[in-house]
Amino acid sequence: MSNPWLNHRAGRRAASAPESAIRDNQPMNIGPYRIDPPLVLAPMAGVTDRAFRVLCRRLGAGLAVSEMTSDDPRMWKTEKSRTRMDHAGEPGPVSVQIAGHDPLALAAAARHNVDQGAQIIDINMGCPAKKVCKVDAGSALLRDEALVARICEAVVASVPMPVTLKIRTGWSRDLRNGVAVARIAEASGIAALAVHGRTREDRFEGKAEYATIAAIKQGVRIPVIANGDIRTPQQARTVLAETGADALMIGRAAQGRPWIFAEIQHYLATDTALPPPAAKWVGQLLAEHLGELYRLYGEAHGVRIGRKHIRWYCEDHPGADRFWTEICSVSRAPEQLSRVAAFFSGGELLQVA
Ligand SMILES: Cc1cc2nc3c(=O)[nH]c(=O)nc-3n(C[C@H](O)[C@H](O)[C@H](O)COP(=O)(O)O)c2cc1C
Repeated sequence: MSNPWLNHRAGRRAASAPESAIRDNQPMNIGPYRIDPPLVLAPMAGVTDRAFRVLCRRLGAGLAVSEMTSDDPRMWKTEKSRTRMDHAGEPGPVSVQIAGHDPLALAAAARHNVDQGAQIIDINMGCPAKKVCKVDAGSALLRDEALVARICEAVVASVPMPVTLKIRTGWSRDLRNGVAVARIAEASGIAALAVHGRTREDRFEGKAEYATIAAIKQGVRIPVIANGDIRTPQQARTVLAETGADALMIGRAAQGRPWIFAEIQHYLATDTALPPPAAKWVGQLLAEHLGELYRLYGEAHGVRIGRKHIRWYCEDHPGADRFWTEICSVSRAPEQLSRVAAFFSGGELLQVA
């Protein structure tokens, strides 16, 4: 889609901007890959499917990490896994996250995903979800540093591709062992580290804290990607200043707003904010996004998955709640698309309904 708004790509750095790699628009390297700009879409199960990753890459993300994929080979044949492992047409480097707790199984999962097109393997040690933690995967691994080392070493040795690790700041507020885990990761050959500024115990509560991310950045030489509660370009700048990180990772703020990467890139480079995109442009973007969902999942499932995205895109627009309730009763793609088009070009359908 041709879009003049997107031509607001990051320009020259404003003369007054402080020195920092990312403010100079310096890319980050992960192994042989330049991540340019150093803004990363966070892995989000149920959200960062191929349709969303491609959109975020087009709108300014330098890297987009897949939803987590299981290390259990029995799962790889399910429709869900097949969709998650489908990278057709995805711009590289393709980064795929694996989750599990057994070093050998994770190593096999890494190899399998490389066979499916992964160019970077990301290990999930950041997710506090019950279904992940109850099998001692995700952030549950953070309390067992010896196991962290065995997993990182096994996965790094299993593939020629760079392996990244996503962690939290520690297991709990009493055991904020992020620096120790980061050093283990570095010694095990991990190429870059993403750190969510909460402990596993925090889940998603409270605010992300950045002091531990700053300590991790000081404690290792591999690139560190700061993550957690970055919702605006201004917050992006603050997090960079507080952590000294090499890159930023954005999760929830990209939901319904995949252009946030262009906004952040522009702000960091120029010290000025992009104007908000026009409602009609947002509607067109959403329609494209929905079209990709229908292609990826088929009409029935694509329409269902599309609903939550519609809700996110609509959130800031008048009449969003009512519109979303109505759109939930729509099961055909053409109707979903025409209602979205009407909502974003004036909400006529809302008035009719
Ligand atoms: C819906 C959802 C799904 C998530 N799934 C994953 C996942 O699969 N793997 C992972 O490492 N983190 C996952 N996360 C955590 C995010 O990657 C990120 O660390 C977290 O949301 C904090 O960043 P944010 O404040 O920018 O959203 C998920 C978060 C959300 C909201």
